[in-house]
Amino acid sequence: MDARDGDRELKVVLEGQYKTAYELLEDAVAVGLTPIVIGPPGVGKSLLVRKFARDTGRAFHEVFFDELLRPSYLIGTFNPAIVLQRGYCAEAFEKGPLITTMEEGGVFLAQELNRASEFCQNSLLEPLEERSYYIPRIGRVHADERFVFIATANPAELAGTHRFSEALRDRLRVWIPLTYPDRETELKIIRVNCEPLTLAEDVLEKIYNVVEMARKEKELEMSVSIRAGIAIARLSARHLSKHGSIGNDDIAAYARSVILGAARGKKWLDLEKTLDDVIRGAMRAYG
Ligand SMILES: Nc1ncnc2c1ncn2[C@@H]1O[C@H](COP(=O)(O)OP(=O)(O)OP(=O)(O)O)[C@@H](O)[C@H]1O
Ligand SMILES: [Mg+2]
Repeated sequence: MDARDGDRELKVVLEGQYKTAYELLEDAVAVGLTPIVIGPPGVGKSLLVRKFARDTGRAFHEVFFDELLRPSYLIGTFNPAIVLQRGYCAEAFEKGPLITTMEEGGVFLAQELNRASEFCQNSLLEPLEERSYYIPRIGRVHADERFVFIATANPAELAGTHRFSEALRDRLRVWIPLTYPDRETELKIIRVNCEPLTLAEDVLEKIYNVVEMARKEKELEMSVSIRAGIAIARLSARHLSKHGSIGNDDIAAYARSVILGAARGKKWLDLEKTLDDVIRGAMRAYG
């Protein structure tokens, strides 16, 4: 759950909504306000915050929240073996990622924060408001001034059972929405995520069209994310490098395999049929 980002290269298209969102993230952090990036799955929330954290040059910790995650995971726990030998001393306390990031003055990314239990949400109130945390037997830990807390959430889930307490909501001060990007930006995203493999412009456009039409098809009740377009493009690029060419039927077959997994709300057979109709419709323009 706790992931340092390492030195892996981040391929980020910082245009359109991403540029606006990135700037708002910078501004919020600059004036000490806690930002939350919200949007449906796969629109680039995590990537945007990871890119921001990387650009600040600060330490980075990331935790995925769910209802079972306990505050002790974030804050830390006493190591019983050391406590037995030396009592409840600072050395016996094994710090969790939130305390570590506060002390390091790093960026803490709270992923899917809306899924956190109320118990866990409450443990964030003091760090967000006072930039400190009281650990029994050890005392109050104060955050380095460079400490930054950023959250992500999926708006569809905000209305569900796990949502923000009023107290936490009031501390998340800057809401940064992301949605599916415009055509040009999404095509660029698919292209950079396909590298080092490449595809001709017309193939990329076909892939984008299928994805866009599947998104619009109400009957499929699904969110076809940017990941779907990237996956179809990667399969198509591999096909091209193996066979030297790629036809509409090949693209349609890959689209089917990728998008099928995202669809819900129907019986499997009906679902396959609806999806085939969508794909056929999207490819029709290309003969
Ligand atoms: N601006 C962008 N530039 C380059 N790639 C992007 C961009 N936005 C999204 N992607 C790609 O789309 C995919 C999904 O992005 P990401 O994981 O950041 O989405 P997310 O909104 O955090 O999704 P989830 O809600 O499922 O956690 C990744 O492969 C990512 O590299
Ligand atoms: Mg994410």
